Amino acid sequence: MKNWTAEMRRRVFDPKDTDELKKLHTQITRSRWRSRFHIQTVTGLLNDPNGFCFFNGKWHLFYQWFPYGAVHGLKHWYHVTSDDLYHWKNEGLALKPDVYADNGGCYTGSAFATDNMLYLAYTGNCRDGNYNRIPYQMMATMDKEGSITKNEIPIIIPEPGYTEHQRDPKIFRYLGSYYILLGAQDSEKKGRLLLYRSYDIESGWEFAGELKVRGHDGFGFMVECPDIEKIGDHWLLMFSPQGIEADGYEFNNKYNSVYMVGKMDFENLEFIPNGPMKEVDRGFDFYAPQCAFQREFPSKAVMTAWFGSCDYAYPPTDDEEWSGLITLPRELSVQGGKLLQKPARGWETLKGNQIFEAKEGSIISDSVHGLMPQTCIIELGDPDSESMMISLFSGSGLRGFEITYDKYSKRFVIDKGGMRSLINPEFGTKRTVVLENGLKKMLAFVDRSSVEIFLNDGEYVLSARIFPDEYENLIRFGGKNIDLNIYAANAAMGEDFVI
Ligand code: FRU
Repeated sequence: MKNWTAEMRRRVFDPKDTDELKKLHTQITRSRWRSRFHIQTVTGLLNDPNGFCFFNGKWHLFYQWFPYGAVHGLKHWYHVTSDDLYHWKNEGLALKPDVYADNGGCYTGSAFATDNMLYLAYTGNCRDGNYNRIPYQMMATMDKEGSITKNEIPIIIPEPGYTEHQRDPKIFRYLGSYYILLGAQDSEKKGRLLLYRSYDIESGWEFAGELKVRGHDGFGFMVECPDIEKIGDHWLLMFSPQGIEADGYEFNNKYNSVYMVGKMDFENLEFIPNGPMKEVDRGFDFYAPQCAFQREFPSKAVMTAWFGSCDYAYPPTDDEEWSGLITLPRELSVQGGKLLQKPARGWETLKGNQIFEAKEGSIISDSVHGLMPQTCIIELGDPDSESMMISLFSGSGLRGFEITYDKYSKRFVIDKGGMRSLINPEFGTKRTVVLENGLKKMLAFVDRSSVEIFLNDGEYVLSARIFPDEYENLIRFGGKNIDLNIYAANAAMGEDFVI
């Protein structure tokens, strides 16, 4: 990989660089790991989803973007739009760090849509003359024509009593007031949530106080990317704490994203969870989830996340000068006080021809003949709680990516340890969930360098980035009674170069 100097990392997009970026783009589109139905970076590096919303008849998503290579350089916002959450169109650069208050990057933020205007709240990661970080919360607006205007004056300045780490505004409205929830670190280096309030969305923001979470006194050393949603009668609080301890099968990644379902007490600035803090995704690569601002389904929310994580490396594509995908959109609902995560409605648009069918363990039709399709959708019908094993991207003498379920212990395990290119193995190569009621259903999406597995209609989701090479080209399965269907997956993402 190339040697990135501080100066190279601090490049701000300049239209003069279009040809250079076009070349980078052409080069990366040849990669065997480019996705066919996930949002992926147009060039360089993508991390958190930002400003995810339904506005003016379309879904909009922005992502944290460094245009020039696979490093966390100066962050910009890149814009994509969709009619159905699955087919996305590249729209080009949305925000670049070009004013004093965001001179160190336009960091993560969220959107609030009205009929005529989209408000984008984000963090200006300002660096002063001595390179000290001053986090400002900023606002930009996008009109219905897609024209973006940035307010150069911060709407919120740093709160005393907290360190330079105050960022990632989640903007929302409740009972006539606007709120911004921020992730922060206090002076004792504990992760905290800060709440701001205003009667006017563009100005007059005041610090309401810390949002306390009953039963918890801070989260790790920093809280990033908070999100809060009202789903039906429940509130969902979700964030990405850094520095929390692993607990059995949970929180085993370097950094994890967590949630709690409960009640919000706005008067006392307290969130009252109805149960323990849980990990949003039980796989390896998932961070900074964000729910879309939308009025379509008040009893549901739609969420996406970065299909990656901070301080993880993805050498196979880093070497090709690009990094980063966004997860498939998930529809969140709360049932019996529990969060369910399903692929957002309409996912069948990705489903192509059936290429393999087994009923009660016997193969009925098979045009795969043991060869692993690079993209596919795998459905496992009610396996009657039988044990089963599926190995994706295996090869001769190569174990591949193994998915197993053991009916006696009720353990569902994914194991990437058999892949030839093993990424971030220091945080373990297996992830396990215990399915109290057994395995009833599995739906998995395979997209060249990623696997997302939904269990029991949204009870758990496990996501993993994988980088199979040309020798890892077989699929194997075993299980007495399994009903297995594999479908080709339709491509939904173009490779338009739009800057
Ligand atoms: C999370 C994060 C955010 C920050 C952004 C910068 O991945 O560290 O806290 O705003 O990325 O790209």
